[in-house]
Amino acid sequence: MSKSFTRRDFIKSTSALTAASTLPISMVELAFADSSQNFTFAHISDSHIQHIKGTKFVRNWDRGLIRAVAETNLLNPKPDFVIYGGDLAQLGSKPELDRGAEIMSALNYKTYYSMGEHDYYEDLGEYWSKLFGKHYYSFDHKGVHFVVLNSILTYDEWTYDRWPTGKQRMLEMAGIDNPNGSPFMVGEKQRNWLQKDLAKVNKSTPLVVISHSPLQKIWKGWNFWTEDAEEVQELLKPFKKTTVIYGHVHQIQYNQIGNISFHAVMATAWPWPYPATYAQAEQYLPKLTIPMNRADPFHERDATGWQFINMGNGNVDMHYTLNENASRTVAFNTKTGQPEDMGYQAENNRIPPQSHY
Ligand SMILES: [Fe+2]
Ligand SMILES: [Fe+2]
Repeated sequence: MSKSFTRRDFIKSTSALTAASTLPISMVELAFADSSQNFTFAHISDSHIQHIKGTKFVRNWDRGLIRAVAETNLLNPKPDFVIYGGDLAQLGSKPELDRGAEIMSALNYKTYYSMGEHDYYEDLGEYWSKLFGKHYYSFDHKGVHFVVLNSILTYDEWTYDRWPTGKQRMLEMAGIDNPNGSPFMVGEKQRNWLQKDLAKVNKSTPLVVISHSPLQKIWKGWNFWTEDAEEVQELLKPFKKTTVIYGHVHQIQYNQIGNISFHAVMATAWPWPYPATYAQAEQYLPKLTIPMNRADPFHERDATGWQFINMGNGNVDMHYTLNENASRTVAFNTKTGQPEDMGYQAENNRIPPQSHY
């Protein structure tokens, strides 16, 4: 691809290829002045594999993950690796985590896992660790520093003292609007680790932070929330190019707070509706235009999907593959310094925001 290939051309080519191709996905890599810096990775999240009994699992959730894995294997050019964004299981049981790991084992790429609350609260991540390793860690890839956080911790009193069994603790945290739940947090121990980890990184190095809950406060009522978000953001502040990619909310969201770009990812299991707070508390709103297409809410795969991510010059462009809807792209606009939905906010293609519902 020529070096004069522009971001706008890229978007056009992507949609043209999507329309013409018989493959479920198309991908074109951006070419920058120094194209050796460019790479892509894929992100799959929130599959909520649910055990019924014996060898029976909820078919719909299985199908969502199986399809995302199959489509990721077909990507061309191939992504450098895959991130799994958390909530692989529904109630954190061994059969669910084993089943999820089995489906994920069909992926042809190295995969980095992050922890969701549905994976954690049965046994505090013990079995998950046996399958996937550390709860939080960092790694470097082609000049980008990646940090994977466990952002779904909460107060010790809630975790250790309140519930008679792990199973009950899990059930209480699994309900999205359950008043017996507790706000998510990264916690002091992990923030201290993060501070030490980032101290070794040059401030001009692009930084990508993977979390399960949003590292910003959106709505506490549904735990679209991280209690110590400001403290974590403070640690990310000194870096010039910083992106947080999170799961949990099962919908497209994007936002810019100072130097930090925020992107949510789609779930393979089901979409969440938009919290009423989007209309009630404007100050918490990400810059949403058309939050999510729902062509057919009665279709089992409607408004679910997965995403691949282009890293060019340290900025993140998110490409959402929605199973029953047109693909969406939210790309970083270097002129405005914030992510924009290319279908709805891009220059010359701007439409007024929809009202929230
Ligand atoms: Fe989830
Ligand atoms: Fe979650």
